[in-house]
Order: sequence, then C-alpha cells, then structure tokens
Amino acid sequence: MSHVRSYLRSLGRSRDSMRPEHRPAAFSLRGRQWDLLETVFAPLHAGTTEIVLDLLGLTETEPQPWSGTFLEIGCGTGVVAVTAALAGCERVVASDINAEAVANTALNARRHGVADRVRAVHSDLFAGLPDGELFDTVMWSSPYVRAPDGYRFTTPLERAYVDPGYAAHERYVAEAPRRLAPGGRALLHFSSRGDLARLRRIAEREGRQLEVLRRHAVVDRGDPVEHFLIDIRS
Ligand SMILES: C[S@@+](CC[C@H](N)C(=O)[O-])C[C@H]1O[C@@H](n2cnc3c(N)ncnc32)[C@H](O)[C@@H]1O
Repeated sequence: MSHVRSYLRSLGRSRDSMRPEHRPAAFSLRGRQWDLLETVFAPLHAGTTEIVLDLLGLTETEPQPWSGTFLEIGCGTGVVAVTAALAGCERVVASDINAEAVANTALNARRHGVADRVRAVHSDLFAGLPDGELFDTVMWSSPYVRAPDGYRFTTPLERAYVDPGYAAHERYVAEAPRRLAPGGRALLHFSSRGDLARLRRIAEREGRQLEVLRRHAVVDRGDPVEHFLIDIRS
C-alpha cells in the first residue's frame, strides 16, 4: 500500500492534531472566526475543510447562492454546514457521531447567527434522523482512508480520519440517495488517499453509480493528492 493511503499514517495525523499548538480555542478560516472543541476534527491542521468549501462552490470569491435543504453528515466544527446556511440554504441539518462535534457545530451556528436554520444532531450517519426527512443536498466529507476490518477506534477523533473496512462508506453509499428530495444530490468528498476502486466496487454491489463531479489537486505534506466531489446515483 502506498504511504499516502496508510491508515497508520492517518492515525498519526489524528494524534498530531491533538497537540495543543493545533488546538486553538478559536481559529480563522475564510475570513470568519470559528470555535474548536477538544476532540473535534481541526480544519486548519487537516486542510481539507477549505477544499470541501471550494468543491461545493461555497466560496466568497465565486458566490453561488444556495437554496433548499442541506444535510451534512460528519459536520465536525460545522464550518461547511454553517457556510451552507449563510449561503442561503433554508434548512440545514448537521450530524456527527462525535457528540463534541455536534456541540461544536451548535456553537458555531450561534456565533454566525444561523442557529434558527442549523439543527445539530448526534447521529451515526442517518440513524438519528426522523424517518422520511429528505434533503436537496446530502454531503459527507468522509474519513476516506481505509483501516483494516477489525480496527477498533481508540479516540472519538480517529473516526474523522479512517473507516475500518469502509463499513461506514458502504452504509453511506447505500443510504444517502434514499434521503433525497426529488431532484436532490447525494455527494461525497473523497480523495486519492482513499481506495476509489474499492469504493466503486461497493457502489456496484449496492446498485449505485459514482460520478466524479469536480477534482482538486493539492500537494499534501510533499505528496500529490487529488480530492474528488462524487455524486452517488441510484
Ligand atoms: C474528515 S472529517 C470532516 C469534518 C468536517 N465536515 C470538516 O470538513 O471540517 C469526518 C467527520 O465524519 C464524522 N464521522 C465519522 N463516522 C461517522 C458516522 N458513522 N456518522 C456520522 N459522522 C461520522 C467524524 O466524526 C468527522 O467529524
């Protein structure tokens, strides 16, 4: 396995992101201030949150007014969900399996005056959402590095970095399209640090098609990495 895909390397990044110098109580991203709680994915350390904003067209430089309803799975600090609300989405649901990420998103929604439109929910993927709640956009910036099947998480933060056996990806690929309102889009942020061939096999098994809508190439700590915005179709 190439070193960029190594789950041990990703777990090392997770540990590194817990160092106090990477854990300011608040940070600045895209001209806004954001709270960061203890065990939550740190956007500045990881660098992927801004890439997700760009892939979605949620940027200040090329404003693309958003509307409709937006579900963010795995919201972390809530930067993407809150930005979607600020860009015009009328109803945003932000969920995370890490309870502290849910609290963090609620804090940032209040900080930016959109608490009335952003509902933060503690949930394993879709499990904590009411049956039949549908969205125009469903999005997950996933922990795209695959860990071995039996890997047991040692901290809540590790779930932001790796997915053992791609079990969570498999559920997401199967379930995300079922949460769409007519004409909606089920999206996934993935990268070449993950195993796209394996994800495609999972999609095929689940009767889904994957289409890469947008790509964004970066050099990540010396390694060329490509980020993808993937549309999951049934
Ligand atoms: C790569 S981080 C992205 C965080 C945030 N969206 C951002 O871009 O800064 C992935 C997030 O997915 C969450 N996550 C992992 N497995 C999950 C699951 N089964 N259900 C819900 N959230 C999950 C993690 O806790 C983490 O917050």
